[in-house]
Amino acid sequence: MKLAIVGAGYVGLTSAAVFSDLGHTVYAVMRNRAKMNKLQQGDLPIYEPGLEEVVRRNGAVGRLIPTLDYSEAVSESEVVFLCVGTPSLPSGEADLSQIDTAVAEVAKHLQSYTVIVNKSTVPIGTAERVRKIVKEINPSAQFDMASCPEFLREGTALKDTLEPDRVVIGTNSRRAQELLLAVHEKLPGERVLTDIKSAEMIKYASNAFLATKISFINEIANVCEQVGADIKDVAYGMGLDKRIGKYFLDAGLGWGGSCFPKDVRALHNIALTNDYDFKLLKAVIDVNNDQRYRAVTKVRQAVGGNLDGQEIAVLVLAFKPDTDDIRDSPAIQIIHLLLKEGARVRVYDPVAMENSRQKLSGVVFAPDATSALEGAMVVLLATEWGEFKDLDWQSLKQVVAAPRLINGRNMLDPIKMRTLGWHYVGVGRP
Ligand code: UGA
Repeated sequence: MKLAIVGAGYVGLTSAAVFSDLGHTVYAVMRNRAKMNKLQQGDLPIYEPGLEEVVRRNGAVGRLIPTLDYSEAVSESEVVFLCVGTPSLPSGEADLSQIDTAVAEVAKHLQSYTVIVNKSTVPIGTAERVRKIVKEINPSAQFDMASCPEFLREGTALKDTLEPDRVVIGTNSRRAQELLLAVHEKLPGERVLTDIKSAEMIKYASNAFLATKISFINEIANVCEQVGADIKDVAYGMGLDKRIGKYFLDAGLGWGGSCFPKDVRALHNIALTNDYDFKLLKAVIDVNNDQRYRAVTKVRQAVGGNLDGQEIAVLVLAFKPDTDDIRDSPAIQIIHLLLKEGARVRVYDPVAMENSRQKLSGVVFAPDATSALEGAMVVLLATEWGEFKDLDWQSLKQVVAAPRLINGRNMLDPIKMRTLGWHYVGVGRP
């Protein structure tokens, strides 16, 4: 089949790569010429493990076609996926301007029957809004609307897309449903066939539930710190209960990234505008914010109560491992708080340094982890990026000014670190 995918971020590009790898011909419609030219050479605008190879492989045989031209992409395709960004407005509401702009272009070029699918995370009712825009611009267009939310995670986007737990297809049209079943035919996972609004809600509810699970485990971790219990064992013991499940029970600095923060706020906002006060979500957000302040308190306590003039090293700037995405990254917010209290901060991240330069001023960007640690009074290891586990922590004691480590995601073994002579503070660990 021929597909058009509008937007080449994590969702758009991964979907384009996977669908082309499954044998479809995919137009990846972009708006930035420089990025499009690079993509044509196989250079990706984002860092995502394994993705470049799949993009190159399919680009080379003409199954993945980066383009700026809506006209050919839309008129040739049976299905158009909208995968553009829907960031938060200051009110928490989702900003749909990129959807509106993309739809206006798509509408102009619809020729034969086409299914227009929202893959971006959009408020309930957005498919209806898109339908109206298309009808206004192109009254004779033959099309149906659908919602197929995406559940991939950054850092494991390829695997998540190739091995989905479920494929949600929300549409009120049998014809559109058949086409979308055919598009996803080669993918595993249960098919959830539903109406559009329920599909849109499945996405928000899933992200909000996962964020709730993390805020819950972070609060349990905080209580563990008070009572001397170990969150690792607690989470393990809880997770063995199938009704709870073992995933997303890792305590840390709070959830970040481009999805949970915006989607939790958006769902809270959707509820409010529909006369419902979703109290639990408000608490989930508050707990998440507090978790970052707790980390700053731990750093402050480690240096005796005053951060002014203290050298602090922060390893990993991205919001999670294996990505260069720093949107709503706990590490970045914590660094701003440290700087505000007068700390001198040296940072290192394996892939997110470039992205971070615009967001962080007043810090030293070190060329590697060892240089970042030079002279540090405290080291904050913000996420569970594997390569830091294998650092020679024994030798690094000679590099820092004082061997104190705050581990934001409990990646290292406290007993081992203490045996090596480090003052070690995790999250929710005795
Ligand atoms: C999330 C969802 O997991 C995906 O299913 C969804 O498709 C995506 O949002 C989206 O809406 O596009 P993502 O934000 O890429 O994916 O990354 P996650 O792995 O979910 O991590 C989100 C945040 O939660 C990170 O800051 C991570 O460090 C944190 N986290 C995750 C924890 O603190 N503890 C955990 O146990 C798991």
